Amino acid sequence: MPDLPASPFAAFDPRPAVRPQPARGATLHDAVPQDAAPLGALQAQVRGGDAGRWEGKIAALIQEPRGTVVVARAEGSLLGFANAEYLPAHPDDGAPAGYYLTGVTVAPQWRRRGLGRLLTRRRMEWAWWHAPDARGEVWCFVSSANPASLALHHALGFVAVRSGPAFQGIPFTSGDGTLLRARPKPAENDDSRLAQPG
Ligand SMILES: CC(C)(COP(=O)(O)OP(=O)(O)OC[C@H]1O[C@@H](n2cnc3c(N)ncnc32)[C@H](O)[C@@H]1OP(=O)(O)O)[C@@H](O)C(=O)NCCC(=O)NCCS
Repeated sequence: MPDLPASPFAAFDPRPAVRPQPARGATLHDAVPQDAAPLGALQAQVRGGDAGRWEGKIAALIQEPRGTVVVARAEGSLLGFANAEYLPAHPDDGAPAGYYLTGVTVAPQWRRRGLGRLLTRRRMEWAWWHAPDARGEVWCFVSSANPASLALHHALGFVAVRSGPAFQGIPFTSGDGTLLRARPKPAENDDSRLAQPG
């Protein structure tokens, strides 16, 4: 029997016995076109598939006015990256229009050092800044086979809205996935308070 491919997801470990040092020297940058090739290679290493195909997708998103690609680096090394973009309502699976966090990848040797959290917070702030209405919702969808990612997003305030076999046209390969939504805390986004009389 052929070997099954290893899961592209991190093993779920809510309380690791050993914790690596936080990646304190890491910095975040908006990706530039030259980043597409190394990001495509990292994505292929982690998620499988063809690096050139990933590179093409990432290059397109870097140029997308309603999208962002954020890169984490330390001392010139690529540690991880993450995407967000505006997506219209999906006609088949009913995922609503809005700003979506569309992927986050941290290099295996750099995991559990706070980079996923850092990359996700940065994209949540980006989405809230760009959100067209006062509710400022930000969305994502996560496979039920990826409890590590669900824990990451729950810890940052995402709540499950519903589950389903596909969101925004992306099918889940092992079981259903969960559509999640986060709203900014009032203190972070409620400009209307500024206009109210004291
Ligand atoms: C999911 C992923 C991005 C997390 O990145 P990371 O840098 O290791 O995450 P962080 O160190 O910032 O962790 C933040 C929190 O997320 C949760 N978390 C992250 N990894 C976890 C794991 N393996 N098991 C359980 N919880 C986890 C924890 O609540 C963690 O907080 P804690 O360390 O204080 O317990 C990383 O494992 C990855 O690249 N996985 C493969 C790609 C993937 O699945 N992407 C998500 C697709 S939606």
